[in-house]
Amino acid sequence: MEMTIRPRRLRNGARLRKMVRETRMDPSSLIYPMFVKEGDVAAEEIPTMPGQYRYSLDGMERQLDALLAAGVNSVMLFGIPDHKDEMGSGAWDENGIIQKALRRIKKEYRDELYVITDVCMCEYTSHGHCGMLCGHEVDNDRTLDLLSKTALSHIQAGADMVAPSDMMDGRVRAIRETLDENGFQTAPIMSYAVKYASAFYGPFRDAAGSAPSFGDRKGYQMDYHNSREGIKEALLDVEEGADIIMVKPAMSYLDIVTKVRDVVNVPVAAYSVSGEYAMVKAGAAMGYIDEDKIICETAVAAYRAGCDMYLTYYAPEIAKFMKEGRIG
Ligand code: PBG
Repeated sequence: MEMTIRPRRLRNGARLRKMVRETRMDPSSLIYPMFVKEGDVAAEEIPTMPGQYRYSLDGMERQLDALLAAGVNSVMLFGIPDHKDEMGSGAWDENGIIQKALRRIKKEYRDELYVITDVCMCEYTSHGHCGMLCGHEVDNDRTLDLLSKTALSHIQAGADMVAPSDMMDGRVRAIRETLDENGFQTAPIMSYAVKYASAFYGPFRDAAGSAPSFGDRKGYQMDYHNSREGIKEALLDVEEGADIIMVKPAMSYLDIVTKVRDVVNVPVAAYSVSGEYAMVKAGAAMGYIDEDKIICETAVAAYRAGCDMYLTYYAPEIAKFMKEGRIG
């Protein structure tokens, strides 16, 4: 008698399905990206990211309390300065918005929270590019000094980890050297190593007012036709001293997450960016999709693809679903 192979046997009942799950994760791997700004208005909603806000320092504290209550212990901070200039000098200003936020967090939360900072110039430059300009081009090598100064000022103000997102060549090495020379040998670097030039960053640029005033970022961020180039970027950054490699965006780039995971021997992070959040929010608001189910499915897909850490604006919701045992 021919025996039927029955994969369905292991799908019989919730208890068994959960027992044989291949992808396991927990809230400690979630990182919540958060915008901090100058001024007194506690929280300004970002129009293209409903449910996400630009926080003042007071507003930030309230949100951090809510995150901790939800079981999210790690954040990625982005600064929105009051003033921008050609060089982006607000990025390394001792009294810049990020530096103030970091000192406040370290004072109020000590070791309760793990704080990572985005290191880039685009939120601070008047032209919105990720580095210093020479004509209409970003001057790679001169930008390295500014990025290193910025990363150092973040660590000095209390950041636990820095995450350069500018895509300049050689910046991981430059930042590593600067941190080491200043006695911060133990501060880790999470490199946005594999970062594509993506329309999925649109809502973020509204939030941060960081859209380039001319041209685009294709001269430094990657062409989305390429995946071997992503491997090259990842391996280079590991060689330069990156402790964690990030792939960004997430949802449309999970093939890259898997490939990077296979070649590097450091943890891999995936960043589900603003446009991914905005699409889910918009679809849910229209009643076209079930928001909670889509959040679960997209998050698990990122982990299944091979990421160890997941950056997402849905971190508190995902932490809740993990704790309920719905996923994870
Ligand atoms: C800064 C930076 C960007 C994002 C993270 N860091 C914007 C960009 O590169 O234009 C995007 C994050 C998101 O869309 O959620 N360079």
